Amino acid sequence: GTYTVGVFVGSLRKDSLNLKLAKALVELAPSEFKFEFVDIAPLPHYNEDEDADPPAAWKEFREKVKPLDALLFVTPEYNRSVPGVLKNALDVGSRPYGQSAWEGKPAAVVSASPGGIGGFGANHHLRQSLVFLNVPAMQQPEAYIGGANKLFDENGQIANDGTRKFLHGFMDAFAHWVELHAKRV
Ligand code: FNR
Repeated sequence: GTYTVGVFVGSLRKDSLNLKLAKALVELAPSEFKFEFVDIAPLPHYNEDEDADPPAAWKEFREKVKPLDALLFVTPEYNRSVPGVLKNALDVGSRPYGQSAWEGKPAAVVSASPGGIGGFGANHHLRQSLVFLNVPAMQQPEAYIGGANKLFDENGQIANDGTRKFLHGFMDAFAHWVELHAKRV
């Protein structure tokens, strides 16, 4: 069957390396995946006081997430952790209490950085939240993409054959993971 995968990019930058990587991953994915990029930029900071009368952007976001079959997170690392804008999106989607939009959806996490550590800290801090959110995040293969500033050609294609092959395998493994864990909401 086909699965709808929500793509969440942890950078708001127009020329974001992680956005480029997310687009490349979509191209490398098997045909049973359909992708929807979910915009996290317009979400006001989560504030529990507003649960009774939530901002329209929170409601729209939650309604976009709920029907998704699976989640793909592609994120930079900010100060060795998850960028605030992505953490805020996780928090917004997780509430009101007991009505989390994320509940049980299989996920994959990819991090990318120009640096050598490839966003490892962000990747694992994100996984910490996913454990609590009951989101089964694929353990293997792991994807910490270092040197990401040298990864793309002028058309946004992955210029490195080894990395392209690795990411192709990553998306195949993710398809298998989704088949195992998707709830077919
Ligand atoms: C960074 N950057 C960064 N890189 C990294 O590997 N580890 C880190 O802890 C940080 N910390 C950090 C904090 C802040 C506030 C910024 C703005 C940047 C550099 C970061 O990897 C680089 O800017 C990437 O290009 C950001 O990803 P996008 O926007 O290109 O997807």
